Amino acid sequence: MCGIVAYVGRKIAQPLLIEGLKRLEYRGYDSAGIAVIDQSGDLFIRRAVGRISVLESVLQQDKVQCQASIGMGHTRWATHGTVTELNAHPHTDDSGHIALVHNGIIENYAALKKFLTEKGHTFRSQTDTEVLAMLIGDVYNDIKARNHLAAGTSLLQKAVQAALHEVEGTYGIAVICKDEPDTLIVARKGSPLIIGVGQDEYIVASDASAIVGHTAQVIYLNDNEMAVLRPDSFRTTTIDDVDVHPVVTQLENKLEEYELGDYPHYMLKEIFEQPHAIENCTRGRLELRENRVVLGGLANFTKELLHARRIILTGQGTAWHAGLVGDYLLEDLAKIVTEATYASEFRYRNPLVEDNTVVIAISQSGETADTLAAMREAKEKGALSLGIVNAVGSTIAREVDGGVYLHAGPEIGVASTKAFTCQCVVLTMLALYLGRRRFMSPQIHQELIDGLASIPELMNRVLQQSDLVRQITEEYCERENWLFLGRGYQYPVALEGALKLKEISYIHAEGMPAAEMKHGPIALISDGMPVVFLATRGYQYDKVISNIEEVRARGGKIIAVATEGDENIKRYSQHVIYVPDIHESLQPLLTVVPLQLIAYHAALHRGCNVDKPRNLAKSVTVE
Ligand code: AGP
Repeated sequence: MCGIVAYVGRKIAQPLLIEGLKRLEYRGYDSAGIAVIDQSGDLFIRRAVGRISVLESVLQQDKVQCQASIGMGHTRWATHGTVTELNAHPHTDDSGHIALVHNGIIENYAALKKFLTEKGHTFRSQTDTEVLAMLIGDVYNDIKARNHLAAGTSLLQKAVQAALHEVEGTYGIAVICKDEPDTLIVARKGSPLIIGVGQDEYIVASDASAIVGHTAQVIYLNDNEMAVLRPDSFRTTTIDDVDVHPVVTQLENKLEEYELGDYPHYMLKEIFEQPHAIENCTRGRLELRENRVVLGGLANFTKELLHARRIILTGQGTAWHAGLVGDYLLEDLAKIVTEATYASEFRYRNPLVEDNTVVIAISQSGETADTLAAMREAKEKGALSLGIVNAVGSTIAREVDGGVYLHAGPEIGVASTKAFTCQCVVLTMLALYLGRRRFMSPQIHQELIDGLASIPELMNRVLQQSDLVRQITEEYCERENWLFLGRGYQYPVALEGALKLKEISYIHAEGMPAAEMKHGPIALISDGMPVVFLATRGYQYDKVISNIEEVRARGGKIIAVATEGDENIKRYSQHVIYVPDIHESLQPLLTVVPLQLIAYHAALHRGCNVDKPRNLAKSVTVE
C-alpha cells in the first residue's frame, strides 16, 4: 500500500523524508517522490519510478540539497493509472502552488475530474490523487478571490476542508502550499496517519516505522479528522473545523525492533523471532501456578463471550487462516459455536448477526480495509466487536469494543509469519479462558497452558531444522505446482503453507483438507509433484496415511511434517520434517514453521524478492 511521510520543523526535511520513505518500503510500492518548499518559497518536487534509490539518484543530480524544513514524501502502490513518473506522487494543482500526497481511493474522482476540466483545469496524470490536488487548488483560489477569511486563518486549511467535503472514498493526505510555507496539513478517512510529536517539529507517517526514530510521542488521527501543523503549534479538528483534543500516546515498539539486524531478510528474522514473540504475547497472560489465563482486554466481556450464541472470526489472508485455527480451537476446547469467515465476504453478504453474537476481527496491521469494514458491519448489526491485532493504535484496535494485542513486535516482511503464530496463541488462550469457565477440567486446562508455555522452546527445536528444510525445498522448487494437505487442526495450516509459498516464490500452491483431494484435485497429481502432508500424531493420522498412499500411487513426492518418534511415516514419505510431540490443539504452532521455511528457501532459490514480493503490499488498506 502507499506510504506517506511528512515533516515540518527546524531540521532539513529532505534527508528525513528519504529515510522515512525507506522505512515504509516494506508496505509495497512501485514509484516514489518528495515535495519540499525551499527557502526561496518555491515548491521543489522530484519523483521517480522504481525503488527509493532511484529517487535518491534523481535528487543527487540536483547537486545542491534543498535546505527546506517542510515537506512530504510518498511511496505509490498503483491503484489508478499505470506506473509512470507522471502518475507518481506528489501531485500539484495547476498553479503549481499546492502539493499533495495521498493514500486511499477517491471513488468519485471521475465526476470531480469532469467538473474541474469543464472549469478549465488541465490534468497531466491518470490518477485520482491529482484530481484532489486540483480540487483543493480550485477551492483555494475561489476562497482567495472572495477574500473574507479572518486574520490568521489558514486559507489552505479552509480549502482542504471544503475540498474533502466533496470527496467520496478514502484518503490519508498531506498537503503543503508555497503561499503558506510553514504550514503542513494532514487529514484522514480510511487510510491511517500517525502524527509524531517532537520538539518544535512534527513528523507524520502512514505507520510508526517512519516515526519511531524521531519520537515515541504520537497522536493517532481518526477518520474525518485533520491537523494543521507548524513548527511551534498544532491544531486538530474535524473536517467541519470542530476542535478535537487528541491524546498523545507512547509508541509500543522501539527503533531497533524495526532493524534487520544480522538477518538477510525480514521474513527470516521474523520466522526466527517467533519463540520470542510468543513469549511476549503470553507474558502476564499465562499464570501456570494458578492454572489460569489472564486476558485483560477481554475481562469486561467475559459474560458476553461465555454466553455467545456464535463467535464469528473474520480477517483476510493469513489472518483468516488463523481465524480458521481459532474456529477449531473454540469449538473443540470451549464448546462455543464458531465460524471463521472472510471479511470481504462477510461485509457484503448482509450477514445474519443474531443476538449474543461476538465478532472478532483478526488483523496484524489493524488497517486491512475489508476487515475494518466487516467489523463495522458487525457493530452496525449489534454484535459485540473484539479485535486480535498487532499494530497498537491501529484503526481496528481503536474501533473495536475490546481486544487483545499480539505484542509480536513490528512485522515488516510482507509474508506474515510471527503474526500468524501469535494470532493462534491468542486464540488458544481465548479458548482456554472460555473453556475453563465452561466444561474444561482443571487437569486438561493445566496440561494445555503448560503446553502453550513450552511452545517457544519446542519451536526453537523446529527452527534448528532450517537447513534440512532448505535441502528438501531445493529439490522441488523448480516445480510449478505444489499441494498442501492436512486434516482437522492441520487443515488451516495447509492453507497457510500454500499461501506462504505462493506469495513469495510465485509457485502455484493449493492447500485443502486431505480428504478433499479425492473430490477432484487428485487429478492434479503428476509424476514428481511435491505434496506436503501435515501428518502429525492425531485422531486422523491413519486417514492421512491413506491419503499419502493415494498420492504416492500416482507419482506424487511426499514431504511429511510428522511427530518426533514416528518411524512409520518414513515408509510412505520421500522426506520427513519432525516437530516435537504436543497436544493436537497446539500442533499448528509448530507445524506451520517448516512451511514458512519452505516458502522462504524456495523464494531465495528462485531469486525472488523475499521481503517485497511483486504486486503485494504489507497492508491492504484499499478494497
Ligand atoms: C500474508 O502473508 C499476507 N501478507 C496477507 O494475506 C495478510 O495476511 C492479509 O493481507 C491480512 O493482513 P492483516 O493481518 O494486516 O489484516
